[in-house]
Amino acid sequence: MPSNLPAILMKSTIALLACTVLGMGLGSCSNADKQEAAAPTPGAETETVAPVKSPQNRGYQTPTTRGPAPRNPDMNLSANFSRSSGVTFSRVPISQPYVALTFDDGPHPQNTPRLLDLLRERNVKATFYVIGRNVDLYPAITRRIVAEGHEIGNHTYTHRNMTKLSDDAVREEMTKTRDAIARATGVQPRTMRPPYGALLQRQREWIHSEFGYPTIMWAVDPRDWQRPGPSVVTSRILASTTPGAIILAHDLHAPTVDAMPGTVDGLLRKGYKFVTVSQLLAMKPSESPAQASTSGE
Ligand code: NI
Repeated sequence: MPSNLPAILMKSTIALLACTVLGMGLGSCSNADKQEAAAPTPGAETETVAPVKSPQNRGYQTPTTRGPAPRNPDMNLSANFSRSSGVTFSRVPISQPYVALTFDDGPHPQNTPRLLDLLRERNVKATFYVIGRNVDLYPAITRRIVAEGHEIGNHTYTHRNMTKLSDDAVREEMTKTRDAIARATGVQPRTMRPPYGALLQRQREWIHSEFGYPTIMWAVDPRDWQRPGPSVVTSRILASTTPGAIILAHDLHAPTVDAMPGTVDGLLRKGYKFVTVSQLLAMKPSESPAQASTSGE
């Protein structure tokens, strides 16, 4: 009916606006709205994002609750983040459904290979904040992490509370781990995570200027180290993950690895795509989008 047309247009505009403004694209909007809300604004994706097949579905896969979970798509994304973009990150302010899954305290001789198997089956790339001492114990597993396309980060050599150490001791923790990773894999870590998340602002700044590492915290913490059981770890992560989030977990603990098939499949079903921490940092929008498009940054 022609007389209804303005009302229909108004309704869908309001719904689209609500989905966009409130970030409700993931499961909160009706199907019809989701398609529209899911389409990112033109130019929002960087040129390095691989084209996704469906033209109306450039940012999101339609969430599915039944059947096998989708595989993480192949993505040819830049990992070159700007050193000036920040010193500390727990998330990146983006609306596209990219997240970074991170695993601390490995490599572990049994749990890490088991985790790598299930990530490979799903084409998921994660970031491993390894302890240098464990890298020296298990160089072949460390090599496998890198060979399978995951990113590796510096989580110190002995996993002590860095706020209680001298600058020289912190420097030694960073250097020994960086060198152990380089010996085992041939690559250098590009970010660091402090044990227990404990690092003074002053330390973050000098580590950033001396090593080039931003300090990587997290936006999602399932407290898996308290061993609440795999299903609790999964439900905590599914409940609190939002676009741009950095997710914390520990491949040190067997129940955490047990939780990962359900967690990863659940996030894939919700339309999330997994990238490494450096790839996520590289997506950080510039301060002013208008300036960014003209400055060629
Ligand atoms: Ni740790």
